[in-house]
Amino acid sequence: VSALDADRKIELLEMIGAAPQMQEVFRIVHKVSQVDVTVLISGESGTGKELVARAIHSRSPRRGGPFVAVNCGAIPETLVESEFFGHEKGAFTGASVQHAGSFERASGGILFLDEVGELSLRAQTKILRALQERQISRLGGRCSVDVDVRVLAASNRNLNEEVRQGRFRDDLYWRLDVVRIELPPLRQRREDLPALIECMVERCERELGIRPRPLDPEAMRVIHEYDWPGNVRELENAISHALVLAEGPAVTPLDLPAAVRGELELSEPALESFFEDAGGSLTGAVERVTRRVELSLIRSRLEQLQGNRGAVAESLGISRKTLFNKMRQYGLGGRGGR
Ligand SMILES: Nc1ncnc2c1ncn2[C@@H]1O[C@H](COP(=O)(O)OP(=O)(O)OP(=O)(O)O)[C@@H](O)[C@H]1O
Ligand SMILES: [Mg+2]
Repeated sequence: VSALDADRKIELLEMIGAAPQMQEVFRIVHKVSQVDVTVLISGESGTGKELVARAIHSRSPRRGGPFVAVNCGAIPETLVESEFFGHEKGAFTGASVQHAGSFERASGGILFLDEVGELSLRAQTKILRALQERQISRLGGRCSVDVDVRVLAASNRNLNEEVRQGRFRDDLYWRLDVVRIELPPLRQRREDLPALIECMVERCERELGIRPRPLDPEAMRVIHEYDWPGNVRELENAISHALVLAEGPAVTPLDLPAAVRGELELSEPALESFFEDAGGSLTGAVERVTRRVELSLIRSRLEQLQGNRGAVAESLGISRKTLFNKMRQYGLGGRGGR
């Protein structure tokens, strides 16, 4: 199969990525699909880790087998064994029927350990043993069962750091990190935005029946300038939000969520995030809010008054020199001006 064919097939799974970092991801996906190696997929939340895992499954010799995804962060500590290895009827109070664990259910296919960094040390030990022995035993069961699974794991935490902090077993880490796929954050591949948006608009129409609309140039500019901390998932949400709210022929910046428009939101969660961004300092949080107030006011006055700095300074009751300094501080406007 040529590299080009590989890209096309991934396009079938709707993975967009013309940016060089994504092309590199596709190249590795293509290679690791063919061999039964363990792959660790890392990347911020919403960057497409699960999509990559599914792409590997659908292109691997195991594609006829199951793809079982386990969210490791959502398993209560008391249910770890039952979730992964299953139980026999009557193994514990409430175990009224026999239950196959995710290892068994994934046999012949792929077990996707999502958010693997969230596993407790105790759970890590159990998983490691199962991976080494390729056998598991159900809770309350007498004999062990052979399992034939290929493991893919994902984490948005830095697992190296977790190992260093003693929160993740290094032997399990080395078993998982055989080949690493690192998904870049969306803000580092802004060139993919137009294609991603087109794909999201289509998806909204197909899956939710939302009428497609183009984005006006101003909305595109706002989208290009935003940082997308929630990556592709956040973009997806922003596009559905905008398409639902839009009334005109095209999506305008006003249809986009407030966070994307860069508006200052003072809701409780927004304030908490200022506090967090300031490293848990109250003074720092207040400074951040202050800066955002200044930045927003200056930016909107500059727009209203067509960049006339004298008029902007006067309207805000500050000197031209103060305005000039603040604009420089916030990276607003170039040199010169009126
Ligand atoms: N390259 C891409 N092209 C098209 N859609 C994408 C791409 N990457 C991600 N998506 C879409 O973005 C959403 C988030 O992707 P996914 O669930 O794979 O991310 P994740 O990294 O597992 O996120 P989380 O950390 O929140 O679990 C999905 O709806 C997915 O279809
Ligand atoms: Mg995920």
